Amino acid sequence: MIGGGQIGGTLALLITQKALGDVVLVDRPELEGPMRGKALDLMALRPHGGHDVAIRGSGDYAAIGGADLVIVTAGLPRKPGMDREDLLDTNLRIVRQVAQQVRQHAPDAFVILTTNPLDAMVYAFHHYSGLPPQRLAGMAGALDSGRFRSFIAMETGLSVADVSALVIGGHGPSMIPLTRTATVGGIPLADLLTAEQIRSIVARTREAGTEIVQLLGNGSAFYSPAAAAVEMAEACLRDRKRVIPAAALCRGEYGVDGLFLGVPCVIGSGGVERVIEFQLTPEERALFDATTERVRATVAALRL
Ligand code: APR
Repeated sequence: MIGGGQIGGTLALLITQKALGDVVLVDRPELEGPMRGKALDLMALRPHGGHDVAIRGSGDYAAIGGADLVIVTAGLPRKPGMDREDLLDTNLRIVRQVAQQVRQHAPDAFVILTTNPLDAMVYAFHHYSGLPPQRLAGMAGALDSGRFRSFIAMETGLSVADVSALVIGGHGPSMIPLTRTATVGGIPLADLLTAEQIRSIVARTREAGTEIVQLLGNGSAFYSPAAAAVEMAEACLRDRKRVIPAAALCRGEYGVDGLFLGVPCVIGSGGVERVIEFQLTPEERALFDATTERVRATVAALRL
């Protein structure tokens, strides 16, 4: 884990509890003490679940040497009143440094990044690290789809385990929660909820991160982002060929070339093994074009 704050710490906890692998929590050199403290705390948690993995903390990027997987959460989170785009310049400097260090110490890793503004930060990470694009994915679609699924379960009163729903596009208000393909137990959403209920779920999904930022008052969501990143990590480490939306480099898919954008991906040991393309309706296409333009504008504002 690079970044051992709210998301990084939760990631280390979830990965330990799933015994997915040994963990190194890396943060800025001045935070080596707190990282070692968190690691020691997690080491002491292991006997309660019998998880035979090792957790270390460090202030030195070299500690990630030889990692199979790197999850980057380094960067500032939002405060109330901020857009994700407001973090652009500060987080770009951080991502630049981290990308160079990952290239040096773990060039063969699959990298999952959560730093916002997500789609532009993955683009920048790719630019600075030179990693093959299939070894790099931004975590956003998994989280946004999870929020969408959670709201559907809340509104229908049905089990979240039976909700299947997908969000594509950029990680921000222009994201596209796809209502047409959403189902509960195989039944189309439109047969379970009214158009008004569905409209309100879509709106809440788009602003779910902001709703949490406003409520927390200091920082942004971390439990669900960590859980979503772990789902992607597990898909890679266990070569599961999961279909998970993620910010992947589009090279012609959906008519987009050269941008990282939320699209359905097959995630396995090869990283992002494939982007799955499917037919959008004209209405979905228009929304996709709008979200692409939004991400393109943010990427254009990067001072790389
Ligand atoms: N190298 C390593 N770690 C760094 C660096 C760096 N150059 N710069 C900052 N960090 C660390 C911070 O010290 C902090 O511990 O990144 C951590 C970020 O943790 P939090 O501030 O708790 O933020 P978190 O909620 O985890 O979110 C991290 O993910 O969802 C996004 O918008 C969010 O950009 C933010 C990121």
